[in-house]
Amino acid sequence: MTPLQSRFALGDIHIPAVGFGTYLIADDDAAGVVADAISVGFRHIDTAAGYHNEAGVGAGIADGIARAGLSRDDLFVTTKLWPGNAAWGDPPKGYDETRAAFEASRTALGLDVIDLYLIHAPSGADKRVEQWQALCDLKTEGMVRAIGVSNYTEAHIEEIRAAGLPMPEANQIELHPWSQKPDLVAFLRAEGILPIAYSSLVPLSTWRAEPGQSSAKTEEMKADSQSAESPFKTMAARYGVSEAQLLLRWGVQSGFPVLPKSTNADRMKQNLDLFSFEISRQDMDMMAAMDRGDGVAWATGDPRDMG
Ligand code: A2P
Repeated sequence: MTPLQSRFALGDIHIPAVGFGTYLIADDDAAGVVADAISVGFRHIDTAAGYHNEAGVGAGIADGIARAGLSRDDLFVTTKLWPGNAAWGDPPKGYDETRAAFEASRTALGLDVIDLYLIHAPSGADKRVEQWQALCDLKTEGMVRAIGVSNYTEAHIEEIRAAGLPMPEANQIELHPWSQKPDLVAFLRAEGILPIAYSSLVPLSTWRAEPGQSSAKTEEMKADSQSAESPFKTMAARYGVSEAQLLLRWGVQSGFPVLPKSTNADRMKQNLDLFSFEISRQDMDMMAAMDRGDGVAWATGDPRDMG
């Protein structure tokens, strides 16, 4: 399995196992970074209206496709509806506002069709089902190839079932050895909903270590990330790979597409190179015992609690 060939089933289409995440890449920088990511081999680009970089990402997609001699169909593009969040003074979007937000994302990205459109978080409260209805209609109309949610719990997904609407095809959630969400993942598997992993690199010492890159990572986690005795460092050394590669491989080997972000071309290449080694069953079992519970990527706490 090479990075370009490896894909997971997503409803009746396929999604690349390794995608390029763009959270915290400024709009002005996004075009160059995304074009570089495509040049080194990424074929899935993940953005969101809430990242405020869709225009830059779209320019990078156009440039990257041209530079690599690709066509639009060679690339898989995900973006997300920002659903609103009353707790932040941001009124939840209804059906028409959801459709308008989709149109704005599509225009900013410069694309006719979006491969995967997600509701970014369950913070839409009593508008959640209307928002989902709008996504279902976008899919029926051929504007998006697959639809899903992000940061949803079992209860939020059950709400969709109770409304008699088609179930999501994916749920993008924070997943790494410190936040494995086994019950939610088992539920998603049973329902045929693909879990997509974000923030796979949380246990790295360098993860969001720069000023202004806040998270809910605890001091204890930060110390454990830095420890020379970190089990991830020890294990990665045994496989002759970097700690980042080990964490990303844990994701794909668990059956989750991963979305590493890097602005550095060498690290981008490293993050795509996950298929020349395999984590042993014994080491996967050891990692299964490292779960610490909720995610930490959001400074405001695990976004599954947002609604
Ligand atoms: P950089 O862009 O300098 O490579 P997030 O998960 O918040 O989106 O960010 C990923 C973080 O992990 C970034 O700070 C990125 O820094 C860093 N990173 C990405 N890939 C690697 C890697 N292979 N080795 C070390 N750090 C990495």
